Amino acid sequence: MMKKIEINEYGSAAVLKSVESDIPVPGAGEILIRATAIGLNFSDVLRRKNTYFMPTPLPYTLGSEAVGEIVKNGSGVPEEPFTIGSKVLAILPWGGGYAEYIIAKADYCVPLPPNMKDRDATSLFVQGSTAHLMVNHVAGDLKGKTVLVHAASGGVGSLIVQLAKLAGAKVIAAASNSQKLEKARELGADLTINYTDANWVNNLIEQNQGEKVDCIFEMAGGRIFEECIETLKPGGTIIVYGSASGQKGFIHSERFVGENQNLMSFNLAYYVQHKPELWQKSLGAMIELIASGKIKVGDTHSYSLANAALAHRDLEERKTTGKVVLLP
Ligand SMILES: NC(=O)c1ccc[n+]([C@@H]2O[C@H](COP(=O)([O-])OP(=O)(O)OC[C@H]3O[C@@H](n4cnc5c(N)ncnc54)[C@H](OP(=O)(O)O)[C@@H]3O)[C@@H](O)[C@H]2O)c1
Repeated sequence: MMKKIEINEYGSAAVLKSVESDIPVPGAGEILIRATAIGLNFSDVLRRKNTYFMPTPLPYTLGSEAVGEIVKNGSGVPEEPFTIGSKVLAILPWGGGYAEYIIAKADYCVPLPPNMKDRDATSLFVQGSTAHLMVNHVAGDLKGKTVLVHAASGGVGSLIVQLAKLAGAKVIAAASNSQKLEKARELGADLTINYTDANWVNNLIEQNQGEKVDCIFEMAGGRIFEECIETLKPGGTIIVYGSASGQKGFIHSERFVGENQNLMSFNLAYYVQHKPELWQKSLGAMIELIASGKIKVGDTHSYSLANAALAHRDLEERKTTGKVVLLP
């Protein structure tokens, strides 16, 4: 038998329940994995509330990425590279990660280099490939540009800060408190700004010697989305990739025309489905960058699998930085 965390209804973190079930048996093309580290993502919170862009079926086991050891291969799975006992990152677009044992399609299992820590590897898929694709394929050439990164100490944000620095940008990190801003500075941010201050737009421009920014990585939504355009240069770009506040933000369409500014968006699921080669290239690049230590995953907030509800509460209440991990 094994333990997993299941939801049978939508709602607060209290709907996350630990249940016992049989250890699953891998079918054709599938791999059974004993999980050693399970990645939590903000999308898990949205799925739990059924406010994700795709509906969450019930009952549902959350978790779209996990690392673990191969226990058993189903028929048709090649022994090389999927040797029993070897470590893989299991990419789980249909969930199933919050469990002691996980079934994953072999096509969605990525062998890991020996120098990659299990916890670090849980940041590769959702947060890692999102950050890498946005910085390297959506934002354009960032060399010599100034970028503003919202939630800069968060899972995706802390990776964007580092990738944008590697791309040659000047990075302004925005977050909600001084400890988070300090983390972003440690990761290489040049300037920091608390975007919960009423006067944050003016503070940012003043700190940046009167200059606005070329590109904004925005995922807060609501007031922060509405206000951030005041920090954008003529011709600049806002890349929207989420709305952690759950609040709608409105910018009049003509506002973009006046200064020839651009609004772009990013959705990882689109790349996985429609641009798989580009996505796999980004994933491969992140494996190299993290394994070589050029990109740091940062302090991990770890919780036991049984404490998944607390991990969800902390993520929603903005108490975490970097990658949040569940340990079976
Ligand atoms: N489009 C895609 O394909 C894609 C892929 C991955 C993630 N995302 C999105 O990217 C964002 C970050 O995801 P993540 O997993 O890396 O999470 P995270 O950044 O580690 O955690 C969420 C952060 O959002 C910030 N935030 C701003 N306003 C908030 C509010 N009202 N309530 C709660 N948090 C608020 C908080 O940082 P501060 O306290 O510093 O503000 C919080 O720590 C999420 O919106 C997620 O949905 C999108």
